[in-house]
Amino acid sequence: MIKTLYVPCDSSAISLGADRVAAAILHEAQQRGIRVNLIRNGSRGMFWLEPLVEVDTAQGRIAYGSVQTKDVASLFDADFTNGGDHALSLGLTEELEYLKRQQRLTFARIGITDPVCLDSYIAHNGYQGLNNALNMAQADIVKAVTDSGLRGRGGAAFPTGIKWNTVLNTPSEQKYIICNADEGDSGTFSDRMVMEGDPFVLIEGMTIAGLAVGASQGYIYLRVEYPHAHKALTTAIDKAYAAGYLGDSVLGSGKAFHLEVRLGAGAYVCGEETSLMESLEGKRGLVRFKPPLPAIKGLFGQPTVVNNVISLASVPIILDKGGDYYRDFGMGRSRGTLPIQLAGNLKRGGLVELAFGLTLRELLYDFGGGSATGRPIKAVQVGGPLGAYLPESQFDTPLDYESFAAIWAVVGHGGVVAFDDTADMAELARYSMEFCAIESCGKCTPCRIGSTRGMELMDDIIAGNDLSKNVPLLRSLCDTLLNGSLCALGGMTPYPVLSALNHFPQDFGVEA
Ligand SMILES: Cc1cc2nc3c(=O)[nH]c(=O)nc-3n(C[C@H](O)[C@H](O)[C@H](O)COP(=O)(O)O)c2cc1C
Ligand code: SF4
Repeated sequence: MIKTLYVPCDSSAISLGADRVAAAILHEAQQRGIRVNLIRNGSRGMFWLEPLVEVDTAQGRIAYGSVQTKDVASLFDADFTNGGDHALSLGLTEELEYLKRQQRLTFARIGITDPVCLDSYIAHNGYQGLNNALNMAQADIVKAVTDSGLRGRGGAAFPTGIKWNTVLNTPSEQKYIICNADEGDSGTFSDRMVMEGDPFVLIEGMTIAGLAVGASQGYIYLRVEYPHAHKALTTAIDKAYAAGYLGDSVLGSGKAFHLEVRLGAGAYVCGEETSLMESLEGKRGLVRFKPPLPAIKGLFGQPTVVNNVISLASVPIILDKGGDYYRDFGMGRSRGTLPIQLAGNLKRGGLVELAFGLTLRELLYDFGGGSATGRPIKAVQVGGPLGAYLPESQFDTPLDYESFAAIWAVVGHGGVVAFDDTADMAELARYSMEFCAIESCGKCTPCRIGSTRGMELMDDIIAGNDLSKNVPLLRSLCDTLLNGSLCALGGMTPYPVLSALNHFPQDFGVEA
């Protein structure tokens, strides 16, 4: 009998040796005359267990991790292809606490299917949403997305249905769907995991968006540092074309949707939607003035939907199960689920998809297992490099957009980066200014000049020079950045800087 085994093809697993483990398993199986069907699946998102090898058994999939090549022979000795016991055996994958406690809607298939197998995608409810959308009026598709309460997962949390409605109602011969796959935020990787682990769900989401607003062309703007995602996407796009899910007449509907991947060159600011469009048009990634909104005058001057990978990948399940189904998850005005990325100084880094509303403390300790160093967690930065640092006293804040706004913080793209008590918050504040100076597009003065002045000021503060003058000056500079910048790169740099100063004044040499 052929044994089915799974070894992830996700970059995180590959960086920990998954390719070598897969090769060793195939070699050992051949030596022993055991026939195996080795599937390269997406990652389950439990990075401390990667490479996580799974085996199909009558009871369900049994997991082994973290597996290194040196373990392979002993795994075969233990009859692991039949679920045999071994020091690395973790039991049934679905029973692992980290996974079992999650509510996986967007990530429902990731780790389960072969990412680039269309049949496997369809067998696991793939393309149900598109099938429904093809029988709906455009306004009804948009309404389902509006009813779901989905808000953009790229950072700004703008309601997706409202954006789509604007594009739908802006007449034009040519409209575009852009997927923002630049994923520049520190500590974030959910976009990458979707593109590597379930590329068809993004393709389906973009196709539905195209049908909804009347756009026949889509572009995925992918950061160049994601070669595995690039390969998975291009393979899946080719298969979708071959099977009629993309093309001049999607599934014979007479409605066209074409899709291409374009690689960004690695500028953080090119994740900002208007400089992204400049870059897609072949120009330097400079931020544009708004208005006009991209939904009215976007790519090549045409109405354009720009959405994050997770926003678009959440659309198929909404069209499959209905807006109300999705809306039932979450709290307040933050509806549905958020794929949260746990990173930094944590024992168990990884991906946790849950309804909005759980607290940072639950994430850091129940899922993350506390700091990897075993020292107290001093601060967490949520929402990327422009997110605020939160001290322990704020760890009970529920993760939702409004609760975070109330404490002058952001949820952003859902990245959570933990720091232990050895972190120097003044150094981290200096780094935020430096990051802004390096990544600034240079279009507006507060950010272009202010970030460099901010670095100099932080150097003075760290050296303890004239604190009674320099600390108020830092606050004044942050005020200018906050209120005078053209985009959120300059506009949000004060979040990490001032939150570090306000919550950890002792690191800046000043009294609380
Ligand atoms: C400096 C900067 C970088 C950004 N980087 C990203 C990014 O990497 N990915 C992303 O989806 N959105 C990013 N955004 C937000 C986008 O401008 C835009 O709001 C988003 O793509 C819209 O999609 P959504 O509504 O689905 O979130 C960034 C914004 C700024 C100001
Ligand atoms: S804030 Fe910075 S990145 Fe944004 S437009 Fe101004 S100079 Fe460019």
